[in-house]
This record gives sequence, C-alpha cells and structure tokens, in this order.
Amino acid sequence: MTQREQWGTRIGLVLAMAGNAVGLGNFIRFPVQAAQNGGGAFMIPYFIAFILLAIPLMWVEWAIGRNGGKYSHGSLPGMFDVMWRNPIAKYLGVIGLFISTIIMIYYCYIESWTLGFSFFSLTKMYFGETTFESMGSFLRSYQGAGEGFFSNIWTSYIFLLITLAINFYVLKRGLSKGIELLAKVALPALFVFGIILAIRVVFIGTPDPVNKPDWNVENGFAFIWNPNFEALSDSKIWLAAAGQVFFTLSVGMGTLQAYASYLKAKSDIALSGLATASINEFVEVIIGGSIAIPVAVAFFGLTTTTEIAQGGAFNLGFVSMPIIFQKIPFGEFFGFIWFFLLFIAGITSSVAMVQPLISFLKEQFKISHNRATTIVGIFIFISSHFVVFFFKFGFLDELDYWAGTFGLVVVALIEVIIFAWIWGIDKGWAEINRGADIKVPKVFYYIIKYVTPLYLLFILINWTIQEAIPTFLMTKANPENIPYLWGARIFMLVIFFGLCLLVYFGWKQNKPQYNGIIKE
Ligand code: ALA
Repeated sequence: MTQREQWGTRIGLVLAMAGNAVGLGNFIRFPVQAAQNGGGAFMIPYFIAFILLAIPLMWVEWAIGRNGGKYSHGSLPGMFDVMWRNPIAKYLGVIGLFISTIIMIYYCYIESWTLGFSFFSLTKMYFGETTFESMGSFLRSYQGAGEGFFSNIWTSYIFLLITLAINFYVLKRGLSKGIELLAKVALPALFVFGIILAIRVVFIGTPDPVNKPDWNVENGFAFIWNPNFEALSDSKIWLAAAGQVFFTLSVGMGTLQAYASYLKAKSDIALSGLATASINEFVEVIIGGSIAIPVAVAFFGLTTTTEIAQGGAFNLGFVSMPIIFQKIPFGEFFGFIWFFLLFIAGITSSVAMVQPLISFLKEQFKISHNRATTIVGIFIFISSHFVVFFFKFGFLDELDYWAGTFGLVVVALIEVIIFAWIWGIDKGWAEINRGADIKVPKVFYYIIKYVTPLYLLFILINWTIQEAIPTFLMTKANPENIPYLWGARIFMLVIFFGLCLLVYFGWKQNKPQYNGIIKE
C-alpha cells in the first residue's frame, strides 16, 4: 500500500480547514440570509444551530474522516463502508461525493465572477453604472443573462477558465505543497483584507446627515444585532439559519472528512475542529457581518437594503457594493479588495470540493495523483459549461437548491445516524476523544446521539413540506425555465448514477481489505 499524503504542519491543517469553511458563504450568503430573515431575528436560531448542529457535526465529520484515512479512504463511500459493513453503506456515501462535486461545478463559476470583478474594479470598468438598474444590467450582461455592457459571455468564460486553471494548478501540487501552502498565504491575506474593509465601513458613519440621518452604519449593525424574540415562532427562520450554518461551515459536503482523512490516527481533532469552526464564525459574523449590510444601510437605508437582500446574494455582492465603491474615495481600490477577498475565500473552499473525488479515483482505481486530478479537472471543466450557458434559465440555482442546501442536511442526517447509531456512539465518542487536546464536554455525547439527529430530522421534514415539494413541483418557476430546470435535474441524476457506477466498479476492482490493516 502506498503511503498516503499528510498535512505538513498543524497550523497548516487548521488554516486549510478554515479555508475550506470560510468562503463566499461568509461574505455574501450570510448577510443576505440575515437581512432576508429579519436581521436580529435570525441570529438566535443561527447560534442555536451552530451549537447543536454545527459543532457536534464538525467533530463527527473529523472523526469519520480521520478514521476513514486509517483505511486509506478519502471520500465518504469508503468511510461509511468501514463504519458499516453493509453493501448499501458505500452507496449512501455516494451522496456525499455527489454533493461536493455538484457544488464545485457551480461554485467555481461564481468564484470566477469575483476574479472578474476584482479586475473591473481596478480598471474602473463599471464606474459610471451608478444606479441599481444600470449596475444590475452590467452584471447580467456579464453573466450572459441580459443586455448591457458586455455583448457576449466570453469575458465571463475567460475568467472561468483562469479560475479553473488556478484551482487545478493548486490541486496538482498536492496536499501539502498545494492546498496547505495556498491556505497559509491566502487566509492571512483574507484577514487583512476583511479587517481593512470592515474598518472602512465603520468609518463611513452617516454619509448624508442632513437629509438622511437614519441612513447610517450604526443602524446597519443594530439591524443585525438587535434580537427580535417575536420572530422566533416562524419556522422558516429556523430552517434558513440551519441552512446557513451548514453551508458556511461546509458541513454535509464531504470535504471536511476528506481533509481529516490525511491526519495521523492519533492527531487531535477535538481542538482543531473547534478552532476551525471558531475561525469561520469570527470571519462570518464579525468580519462578514460588518461589511455588506452596514454599508448598504448607510447608503441606501434599511428598507432598500432589505429589498436588495430579497433580490439574492448576487444583488448585494455584485450590484449594491460596486455602486457604493463609486461613492467613496479610492473606491477602485476598495472594490478590488472586496472582490479579491471573495476570490480568496472562494478558492480555498473550491479546492476542497474536488478533493473527495480526486481521492476516490486515486484510492479505488490506483491511479496517480496527476492522472486523477487531470480527469477530475476535465470533468469539472466540461460540466461547468451547462452552468455557464444555461445560467439565465436558473440552472445554477437548481443545483444550489438540491445539492447546496437540501442535500447537506440529508448527508448530515445519514452520517450522524451511521456514526452514533450504527457504528455506535461509544466508538464514536472514543474516536472524537482520541489524541484530543481538550476535554470535550460529556453533554456532547448526548447531543450527538439524540439532539443532533432529531433536530436534523425536524429540519428535513419541515423543509420537505414547506420548500422541497413546491420547489420540486416548480410551482413558482418561470414557465420558460421549466425545461432547463428539468435539464438540471437530469444532469444531477446522470452524475449521481455515474458516481454509483464508479463505486460499483471501484469496489469490484479493488475490494478493500479491512482486517488488521489499521495503521496507527
Ligand atoms: N463553506 C463554504 C462557503 O461558505 C462552501 O462558501
């Protein structure tokens, strides 16, 4: 058996894990979710979901990953297979492999816009588009979804190619020389950029004190931080909060497990997992929460900011922010910092999303790292064309709903059941505590066994009734988009069954031997 790669240093590992978690979700999805769901009303269910779902699942995922790594498995099919010797286990694991792959296919496209907009900021290309209408059409024309500044999709396509090339260059260099090195450079840069922007926003104060005294940064912060206990009876807010916690921490994607599989069998996971989750929350709530919403409230007022947020994440990040950059001194510089910050956040997450598939091919088909990375690179490149060319018909949103939102909860529920009920909570608890640098409070033993699965079940049932069924039936879809939305579903099914076949042949070709090969 060939030696698996390993993380170079502990700080490198924590930074890579934090890079995996910190992403576009922290800076644009979070503010939008908070604003759409009543600001302060959102933060209570958000923190509850963080403690009862995210922290326990973080430990569960690290433990599943490190345990799988002992048997040379870097993706969920193999990890579930070692925990539950039932032929179905590896196919349940396919759901995880599927989710990270689908997210990668559309996430890279959004990531590439951030690179494009960094360039457009420095070159002041969107300067002059000062209204929501004109900046909105600038963005839509860039996305190939409408008329405007760009007459075709090629500029956007070129930035996608550059983004994919950078991603796969990093991946080709491998774990320690690629992903870990990227995280060591990118994460400190992200902190510096984020803090510069947050400070800049705080100093904006009240841009027009005479005519619009209420339009100020303080009111923006108050909107996010003043709790609204009455809104807690609305189950929609609880679902949105749980969805955000999952997405931002990359829980349920299979990527944390993939990274953890490269740990030594006795390395700590308890403290490192907690550190990663804490870094992510600091970046999301403190830095992310201090940028887009407060500045939008200062320049557009609370009502318009809420409307912007209702228009979705792209509106806030790519329309309202560029308008603001045109109103402040050195806006091109701050615009560059904002979009490049998003790019850094994005790339440290996207490299993680392909890691499970690359590991799977290497381990199950015994092919070289270079070869596996090239195959996956070509596959992602081809698949992303669907997202680019059918973007305007809602293709990306469809993938994001089923894989990036609903699917995460499905994977989390499956893994926590396998971990706590099939493998057994006692084994699981011992695994979490093996080599631990902190004492994990015993209450989490019960949370992992009872509270997390029940909470997940509650979310899943509610979500299915309130959202998934209407979304599936396309009750609110634009009729023109319906064929493309079906196309997106067929696309996902093809990838899902393709991965099932790969698992089937992978196991035939290379039946894992589990007895006695535990490498400590
Ligand atoms: N966790 C990653 C993000 O927040 C996927 O974007």
